[in-house]
Amino acid sequence: MHRMNWLIRLTPVLLAGLLLACESAQDQIERQTAAAQSGRQAGGTAPDGLAVFRKYCVTCHGVDGKLALNGAKDLTKSALSLQERITQITNGKNMMTPFAEVLSPEEIKAVAEYTLSLKK
Ligand code: HEC
Repeated sequence: MHRMNWLIRLTPVLLAGLLLACESAQDQIERQTAAAQSGRQAGGTAPDGLAVFRKYCVTCHGVDGKLALNGAKDLTKSALSLQERITQITNGKNMMTPFAEVLSPEEIKAVAEYTLSLKK
């Protein structure tokens, strides 16, 4: 009985901690995306690979490219060339959805270049 009480008292603390951790990660993404977008407006017409990545790719690849959800590859370890990346992002592969209908060729190139920059 003593053990249970201890657990019950601790549960809200644990939950609050979890929530806080999620929120600050989300805040960070939003702040960086906003910064990237305002940078794009100030800096001309080239699409921003980082902003595209944050919007379309993090669900499977994660912010740092390492998440590898649903069988996605760790992008920091990918050996594909820029052209191979462009082809795969455009047409998709296995569990990866194609982006030909979602992104312009310029956006695809920009995000492919961004994934190259994740490489360690
Ligand atoms: C629905 C989940 C999903 C999303 C969203 C997604 N990917 Fe992928 N990605 C995958 C999967 C799964 C693979 C591995 C495909 C395979 O080889 O079987 C992959 C592989 C890749 C690779 C090749 C890595 C290698 O070495 O083979 C690149 C580059 C890549 N993704 C970039 C992107 C970019 C850029 C975006 C956003 C525009 C994106 N992905 C969005 C699931 C996803």
